[in-house]
Amino acid sequence: MKLFGIDFKKLILAPMAEISDAAFRKISRKFGAGLVFTQMVSAEGVARHNFTTLRYLSFARDEKPIGVQVLGNDAKILGRAVKEILKFNPDVIDLNSGCPVAKVTSNNMGSGLMDDPKHLGALVNSMVKAAGETPISVKFRLGKDLSKINVVESAKAAADNGASFITVHVRTSTGRYDERPRYEWLAKVKEAVDIPVVANGSIFTLEDALFIKENFNVDGLMIARGALGNPFIFKRYNTFVEKGFDPGPPDLSLVKETLFEHINLLEREFGEFNALDKAKKHSIWYLKEYNGISILLDNIFALKSLSSLYEFLNKHFDNIQNGTYPEEDNSLIQQKFFKRVVFWLLEDNYNVLSKTA
Ligand SMILES: Cc1cc2nc3c(=O)[nH]c(=O)nc-3n(C[C@H](O)[C@H](O)[C@H](O)COP(=O)(O)O)c2cc1C
Repeated sequence: MKLFGIDFKKLILAPMAEISDAAFRKISRKFGAGLVFTQMVSAEGVARHNFTTLRYLSFARDEKPIGVQVLGNDAKILGRAVKEILKFNPDVIDLNSGCPVAKVTSNNMGSGLMDDPKHLGALVNSMVKAAGETPISVKFRLGKDLSKINVVESAKAAADNGASFITVHVRTSTGRYDERPRYEWLAKVKEAVDIPVVANGSIFTLEDALFIKENFNVDGLMIARGALGNPFIFKRYNTFVEKGFDPGPPDLSLVKETLFEHINLLEREFGEFNALDKAKKHSIWYLKEYNGISILLDNIFALKSLSSLYEFLNKHFDNIQNGTYPEEDNSLIQQKFFKRVVFWLLEDNYNVLSKTA
């Protein structure tokens, strides 16, 4: 088992397609993420040197320790992809065995790999052989659906074939985000393997993180949606674990400074045009718990440049600071955030499509 430099005591930032880009990874590392991941990249794209795929997995030194996540179902191609990825010198390479999207599972990739633990083991074996000293990990869901939970068998196949650690998102593939997280399975996985087990699923607060850590005997915790607009959670968790106290939520000036730094990094990474939509999304996430969120949602999508976004946000932060906005019940927004997060804005009550059309 190889685990150089990976600190499981700190929260891990999950791979998130279109979100865990270099900007978000840098911000998360700045606030103390112990490990960050790229979004999933296609093993075939890597093996073929596809430019867009390689762009997704490139990273800078200040993002390390970093894991690159691959999606694939062919042992030879995964082996070749691992060899290519090693040129970037990541700290771990992860096999995606959890993606529930039909386009992925119908090609026997992502959580589709869990249908056949023996085949999954062969894939891990090929990756481990190609990886040399670099650790290989696997990220699972519980199984296909509640009647076909086979995460224990799958985790064993990964561990028996040399995986260095595994992560379990404690929901099934068909359950998406609608199922309650079933943390109780973590203990069964822990019993079955002797490699570290990382828990993932519905960690939104420091209390959630501590509850899971204390009650389910896992080695590490991975956070996805809970870090959106809230990279501060890394620092809160680490401080609590290391020093025994919660530094508390950030004050508004730190939220503003961090959001502006995040937008600046997005602009450097993607250029103004492509950064704009991403910057709007992150602005909403950073500001979702403050008064004025419905005004933000009503106006932000019409902004056509980063400079107009900065101008709008400057006023918005001033209004929050000055108490200009009325108290609002943003529980509906919170509910949608927890459930869907990225696409919640497209739902009926906030029909963004009609606003941007
Ligand atoms: C927008 C989005 C994109 C995601 N992309 C990936 C991905 O590329 N690879 C992956 O393994 N999981 C992906 N996930 C799943 C998360 O990594 C995580 O397992 C899941 O959201 C549960 O964690 P959470 O409850 O902390 O959000 C994605 C999740 C979201 C919300």
